[in-house]
Amino acid sequence: MSITLIIFSSSVLIDDIVSRFLPFFKEGEEKEKLLPLALPSYERDQLISIIGNKRSIGESLKLLFSELKAPRGETTFIDPFCGSGAISRIARNLGMGVKANDNQPFAHLVNYVYLTLTNDDLSQMFREMGGIDAYFSLLNLEGLYAYNTEEPLLGGYLSHHYAPQDDNYYDGQKERLFFTAANARFFDQVRNEVERSLDDEAERAVVIAALLYEASRKANTLGSFTAYQKKFVTEGSLARRRIVEPPVLRVPTLVDEPLKRGEVSLMSAADFLKSTSGDICYLDPPATVQQYGNNYHLLNTITIWDNYRPSEERDSEGNLLDKGGIRRDWRQTYSPFCSLKEADLAFVNLFGSIDARHIVLTYPAKGIVEIERIYELLEPRHGPVTVIPVAKRNQGGRQSKGKQNIEYIFVAGKMGNFHLPVESGIELLPLVERLSNLTDRLFKTPQSLPDYPFIGGLILDGLPPLEVLLNKEVEQLEWEVEHLEANSCDNLDEGLKVLVRAILDPNQSERGKLERRLYPLLRRLDEKVKLERVLKELDWAGGDPSVAERLREFLVPLIARKN
Ligand SMILES: C[S@@+](CC[C@H](N)C(=O)[O-])C[C@H]1O[C@@H](n2cnc3c(N)ncnc32)[C@H](O)[C@@H]1O
Repeated sequence: MSITLIIFSSSVLIDDIVSRFLPFFKEGEEKEKLLPLALPSYERDQLISIIGNKRSIGESLKLLFSELKAPRGETTFIDPFCGSGAISRIARNLGMGVKANDNQPFAHLVNYVYLTLTNDDLSQMFREMGGIDAYFSLLNLEGLYAYNTEEPLLGGYLSHHYAPQDDNYYDGQKERLFFTAANARFFDQVRNEVERSLDDEAERAVVIAALLYEASRKANTLGSFTAYQKKFVTEGSLARRRIVEPPVLRVPTLVDEPLKRGEVSLMSAADFLKSTSGDICYLDPPATVQQYGNNYHLLNTITIWDNYRPSEERDSEGNLLDKGGIRRDWRQTYSPFCSLKEADLAFVNLFGSIDARHIVLTYPAKGIVEIERIYELLEPRHGPVTVIPVAKRNQGGRQSKGKQNIEYIFVAGKMGNFHLPVESGIELLPLVERLSNLTDRLFKTPQSLPDYPFIGGLILDGLPPLEVLLNKEVEQLEWEVEHLEANSCDNLDEGLKVLVRAILDPNQSERGKLERRLYPLLRRLDEKVKLERVLKELDWAGGDPSVAERLREFLVPLIARKN
């Protein structure tokens, strides 16, 4: 993450600012290194990678929000275009009261789960089916059975309209290839099961959210559902696992009380802002001509499950005329922000309807509306405005140079003491970025550094406050980062051993928090033998036997289900 602050007036050319700071941006030339072991984390868990999602600049936004947050009392964070929810999750994790909105049903459902529910809610769910882990295992088994059945699924909706009949012989002109036949059967089986067996809104949403995430990952498309690739990937290809191998539904990783429950709504941003005010209003409107309603029509259909019938009209050769099979009602969520003609006026209206102490807006350099124009519209009404160019973090693979990867953060409203001296900032920022990569990592031995929020010394639960970080000497911060990197666990077995022993330790004062980090990690383990190794670890002579017993009660049924 790179961050720097520049107060600029519209007379300063954006290109000047970018070229001045570009050398310090991470350009992502090299392939991503193998990362050390990270624990499942709420902020990253099962994020659907929608167009324009902001996960890649999440750390910059987190630092900024933690500065803008009221030092005492409640801060309300409003997110009218919340999308995947990546940024609202960060705000909730910072302790703010979150009110999030989107006009897409799939985004609404996923955010309902991640922003309004807690781990405690999950532990109360599916009681009559043996609890959430047992129920998810059952659904995965049923799904897998359907995946492996060669016959078309009775009542299969996706298998009928959006997948081929046979994964070995198919024709992308005559059949839609959004999913493999096997995966479509899995999704149909689970989604029909939800419809048949679940009435409770939260239980239904938890399963559908996991299903949506898998459906977005297993799609044979380039990220959205307007078109599919001509072929499913072939044996040995890297993408095979993503598209062809069976889905696995995973229990969401949520947060615990006392973090507040958020609120979510499903409406246009304009309507939402008429009735909602807050302290920080985060705006992330669309910046390309891609309408979300048609790009994600299948995710909406899986959410609503209304048996929408796409056209089966064909030409004289039997080829489908409507290959995308896009829902005709997608226009109900038509967004003026995606229109070259209407976006400007949409911004004027948007800025006219916000009631918040601070506005934070993110917009890419290559968006529909020029960056200078956004400044011109925002400043008169909500000035002073600060503009921060940030480089998007490399998400794997190569990244092209230049403007494409620059995202602008506009901050409207008085910034108080938030000022980053450019000279030291340039040296400190790459270190802050390395440090943010160490959050949610496990350390080999208990660590203690002043102002670092460790859990039991073993997990870095976020960064020290920004003002503390930015006031450090470069050498000092460098030493701390290197020290933590050197002590971070780099393989799963080692990490599990450290974590389990820390929990069993009779003198452990943060056992509860550590345990809450262990359970999602165990649930994610695909290999039975790894779980069995953890079970053995519970016999450690130095451990508290009653704690070991409790962990055994969690682990034994999990291992049994792997059979
Ligand atoms: C750039 S994305 C937001 C990404 C989000 N911040 C994230 O990190 O995932 C824009 C979102 O705005 C939603 N959207 C577009 N136009 C809208 C409107 N007029 N009202 C409400 N939501 C809208 C889209 O469905 C999409 O989810």
